[in-house]
Amino acid sequence: MKFDLIVRNATLPDGRSGIDIAVQDGKIADIAASIAALGVEEIDATDRLVSPPFVDPHFHMDATLSMGLPRMNLSGTLLEGIALWGELRATVTREAIVERALRYCDLAISQGLLHIRSHVDVSDPRLITVEGLLEVREKVAPYIDLQLVAFPQDGYYRAPGAVDALNRALDMGVDIVGGIPHFERTMAQGAASVEALCRIAADRGLQVDMHCDETDDPLSRHIETLSSETIRFGLQGRVAGSHLTSMHSMDNYYVSKLIPLMAEANIQVISNPLINIMLQGRHDSYPKRRGLTRVRELMDAGLNVSFGHDCVMDPWYSMGSADMLEVGHMAVHVAQMAGVEDKKRVFDALTVNSAKAMGLQGYGLEKGKHADFVVLQAKDPLEALRLKPTRLYVVRRGKIIARTAPRISELTTHGTTRTFDFAS
Ligand code: FE2
Repeated sequence: MKFDLIVRNATLPDGRSGIDIAVQDGKIADIAASIAALGVEEIDATDRLVSPPFVDPHFHMDATLSMGLPRMNLSGTLLEGIALWGELRATVTREAIVERALRYCDLAISQGLLHIRSHVDVSDPRLITVEGLLEVREKVAPYIDLQLVAFPQDGYYRAPGAVDALNRALDMGVDIVGGIPHFERTMAQGAASVEALCRIAADRGLQVDMHCDETDDPLSRHIETLSSETIRFGLQGRVAGSHLTSMHSMDNYYVSKLIPLMAEANIQVISNPLINIMLQGRHDSYPKRRGLTRVRELMDAGLNVSFGHDCVMDPWYSMGSADMLEVGHMAVHVAQMAGVEDKKRVFDALTVNSAKAMGLQGYGLEKGKHADFVVLQAKDPLEALRLKPTRLYVVRRGKIIARTAPRISELTTHGTTRTFDFAS
């Protein structure tokens, strides 16, 4: 018998090497050293890392690749970005959203990014954004698991019609309840929005993922309310706090009480290092705060911490390339996760932790799981984070859906010409 595909001699993220992965009917049929059977197709992964696909648990696909429309963000701030998106949203078409999102998905596939949670703005009651991304979710389903969050960008209570629009978006098939309590008019209304949105999730049996405390204000404490409402409604493990940047600036004593509360609620922590380092600390002169949540402390407390890309070429962020290793690279620096074990935790935060946050089924390099994985031009997770290397093969349900030639240079030095492997 021949397997559909065998990957030979791979190194896995957990450090095992010399591993073969046999694939049959879209599933991992076996994963072990030296599998004797042959494959119809075989990939040599000698000295290459084979990872489960990258997972982005926090993105905005309705705004991606729209940079410059209708104008550039001159101040580069979060608040001008929100205002600018409001201008674009008023004129955007469903076709334009779909076209840009599909272009982004192609980029994501080429980078081995096959699972994405995207917030979709429901502030415009026409819900063109929702219609567009529901179409995209269906179109990309064979290649990308796309989860959608009903996100009231301009405030659940602050934006006229948002309460009704959010519910309609959920009725249309959006998966998850979003929110933005720090953007409501008052702290009290922010807390009320958290209570109302958790109640909706409990009534409908859905997950929650809120933009929470994306600010440098140490008194922005909606994560406390989100944690307590999570416990009250029995939503433990099904609620994500995205950003949580105010925790960077909070008083240490308060945080010593807050983190155990978050752990009790089993909050999924989703940090966005690229965007946070770009947008936070803007009101500071010097010293200038980093504005990233307390990654190491939250991990040490046993919370599931993952990293999101958040934005690529949109009103908030003019950079990005659907490369989760770029996100991890920034996390290593900003969260000062420099040790060997630290970097392994960062790599996990881009893969298995994010998969857990999204509640993905069948994810991981184990027998019986989906045959979804990426072969990288790097020998281990540490090198992958350092080099952000070429994704040589991207496999989904046992089929190669993207392949890219390795980066190999021809060097002419010291009077001779030779080849040089970028990852050597
Ligand atoms: Fe976001």
